[in-house]
Amino acid sequence: MKEKTTFVCQNCGQTYVKWVGKCSSCGEWNTVVEEKIVISKSSNMLKSLEKPIKIIEIEQEHLERISTGYNTLDMALGGGLVKGQTILISGEPGIGKSTLLLKIANHLSKHQNIIYASGEESASQISVRAKRMGVDSENLFILNSTDVDYIIECAKEYNTRCIIIDSIQTMMTRTIESSPGSVAQVRESTFKIVEFCKSNMIPCFIVGHINKEGVIAGPKVLEHIVDSVCQFEGERYNLYRVLMILKNRYGATGEMAVFKMENNGLEEVVEASAFFLSERRKNAVGSVIFPYTEGTKPILIEIQSLVLKALYTTPQRKAQGFDVNRLAIILGVLEKEGKIFTRDSDVYINVVGGLNVSEPASDLAVAIAIASSKKEKPVQENMAIFGEIGLGGEIRAVHHIEPRLKELERFDIKYAVLPKSSIQDIKSTKLELIGVEHILEAIDLALR
Ligand code: TYD
Ligand code: MG
Repeated sequence: MKEKTTFVCQNCGQTYVKWVGKCSSCGEWNTVVEEKIVISKSSNMLKSLEKPIKIIEIEQEHLERISTGYNTLDMALGGGLVKGQTILISGEPGIGKSTLLLKIANHLSKHQNIIYASGEESASQISVRAKRMGVDSENLFILNSTDVDYIIECAKEYNTRCIIIDSIQTMMTRTIESSPGSVAQVRESTFKIVEFCKSNMIPCFIVGHINKEGVIAGPKVLEHIVDSVCQFEGERYNLYRVLMILKNRYGATGEMAVFKMENNGLEEVVEASAFFLSERRKNAVGSVIFPYTEGTKPILIEIQSLVLKALYTTPQRKAQGFDVNRLAIILGVLEKEGKIFTRDSDVYINVVGGLNVSEPASDLAVAIAIASSKKEKPVQENMAIFGEIGLGGEIRAVHHIEPRLKELERFDIKYAVLPKSSIQDIKSTKLELIGVEHILEAIDLALR
């Protein structure tokens, strides 16, 4: 056995041979910590390696799907959980991660033992929540422990068919010296749990904290080791929550499931589009319907803009749920190519419902919302808008056209303003399609 020390940035996982004050990889200060690594000399990898197999000869295993108890979540995951699947769930504190997992654990434990290992809350705290949510399963065990090795021992003893780890940042394994939450501990603990679950074909949920920038705290490897990554989004003071599937080895990414926080836990929202559009005022200035999708199932959301005469010499640009840098580019293109001058105005963007919209197809919806507010003209009734905007004001093709149009049809939207170059991909639709090539043309046609 050989002992070696290394210095690891606790933010991004970058390693150094000596201590440094600032991590040159992620730019954070005071995040580099000394960690000990024990290397065993006698490791002979070759012994256990399998022979290469021809890809056409590999037998496909049948993926049995297990329901989480939430239909929409099952669909977003590609049909349900798969045996041995490891899922990382992240999100802001108080967003509902523990609430969701307790409900799923309750459902999964109807006929088999489940362990919910919590390093964050005491058993009695969890029991209070469980009462409130009507959790009543005989086979659901709460384990107050932060010791991964012990949790795995218990899982074996109780013949557990699913494990829930709340949260990975509180967990530690005895084989590593550093403190809980450190990169080495988080990485090693995750490895151990994933290895155990894979070899026993047990699905597992792991809660991961996010840091102040909104990314999952701890090493990036965390996201690489697990099969699926889900992020809980939404405003804490709002009732709705969106679970986005950011990575999935057993299904498509970009899928989402919408929930509502009730007094007795999270309820799934089956008709998400109806829900997001429910408070939209017809013919409101600065409001645009946008079919949002990053996966296969789109939802209709409202994008709002407010353009006001600026009070100070530096005008304000603020956005909720939309990237302000992207907003700055859109404002530039709107001025140069779209004849919408906002340099003397404050511009606000709001994606209704607390969603974070980052797909480029939202560009045109945001641009038209701004133009509508500036010109004080509402967008035509029953119209939806989407398309990517280039710096020359050109409207570029976007993906997932057909599912977007299908969702619009379901909600009786009559017109869609979209990139002209996307129209050729469309086989049939009941909507009247208004193909546009340039931002000026789009403003003209949308605000008639
Ligand atoms: P929680 O699941 O503890 O969040 P996380 O694990 O992501 O930190 O979320 C709890 C919040 O949800 C808390 O602020 C109270 C609220 N809540 C309800 O409104 N209804 C309920 O039935 C429950 C259990 C929680
Ligand atoms: Mg929690």
